[in-house]
Amino acid sequence: MSSRKVGIVGSGLIGRAWAMLFAAAGYRVQLYDILESQLSTALQELDKDLHSLEEKGSLRGQLRAAEQFALIEVTTKLEELTREALYIQECVPEVLQLKRSLYTQLDELLGEDTVVGSSTSTFMPSLYSEGLKRRQQMLVAHPLNPPYFIPLVEIVPAPWTSPQAVERTHSLMLSVGQRPVTLRREIQGFATNRIQYAILNEVWRLVASGILSVADVDRVLSQGLGLRYALLGSLETAHLNAPGGVADYFQRFGGEISAVSATYGATPDTQGDKVTLEDIARQCEELVPLEALEARRATRDEFLTKLAKLKKQFE
Ligand code: NAI
Repeated sequence: MSSRKVGIVGSGLIGRAWAMLFAAAGYRVQLYDILESQLSTALQELDKDLHSLEEKGSLRGQLRAAEQFALIEVTTKLEELTREALYIQECVPEVLQLKRSLYTQLDELLGEDTVVGSSTSTFMPSLYSEGLKRRQQMLVAHPLNPPYFIPLVEIVPAPWTSPQAVERTHSLMLSVGQRPVTLRREIQGFATNRIQYAILNEVWRLVASGILSVADVDRVLSQGLGLRYALLGSLETAHLNAPGGVADYFQRFGGEISAVSATYGATPDTQGDKVTLEDIARQCEELVPLEALEARRATRDEFLTKLAKLKKQFE
């Protein structure tokens, strides 16, 4: 892996975040998009974001903002992007047909040493890489938004992805300061969304059954469980919560866990149950009006940076 060039396909929200992550670690970054106008907007945004992070003391890496920005270039030619790239991060919109057609084009252009990771949140890698010549070099590398402040990356191989491609992606993610986890095999929802949806389902049930308001059900996480989970996973949390560790925890509470779990009932119909959806939307908008979402996101990102620094001390 001698090349220090990383290619990024799609220069939207997530593509730009990856560009900043790789540039922060000193990689040469080439951004590709089908729209020239999108690329010039992306460059303006990147310049602005990098300098603003520098001013706030939140810029990642050892290089100055201007040096990081100088590492980022753009192209509208896919053959230029693939040339000598050690890795390509795909960030096109979440439309399966679009991803399939892009991977078919990439398949013709990729060198044998280039790995391609998809940012997709929903598509298992076999869905878009089956039948391709270079499919052993393709996998999912799923970030969480905003990737600049949340280090987790889920690496998900297709059944045919080579162990080398997985290992190289894992090392690359570590080298840019992200915290990868590798799933041993693909599964719908990967790990993050499986867990996130389990929480959303129960939160929905508690609101739909009138047991808690939106503000209160969110407080259960933001003022309770979430504080522990910001530092520890659920299993280590359990491990610390019983005198004899996790085995003792399940010995003591396993019966209760099963009894409560038996009361969950059917998976909520979050699209069909319009009454609950309207109720949740109304209550959420009372808490954060739609016109205030942007400002609230900025505040979240600002505090995530502080939390990330605190977590480093914890670890
Ligand atoms: P976006 O809509 O902000 O950006 C998509 C970019 O792809 C645009 O610049 C568009 O011009 C470009 N594009 C469209 N067709 C293309 C093609 N054929 N070739 C090259 N570029 C093309 O989308 P966003 O939010 O950045 O999402 C990208 C991927 O990241 C999706 O797969 C999404 O599921 C995933 N993701 C998104 C997260 C989010 O919170 N937005 C979080 C984690 C993953």
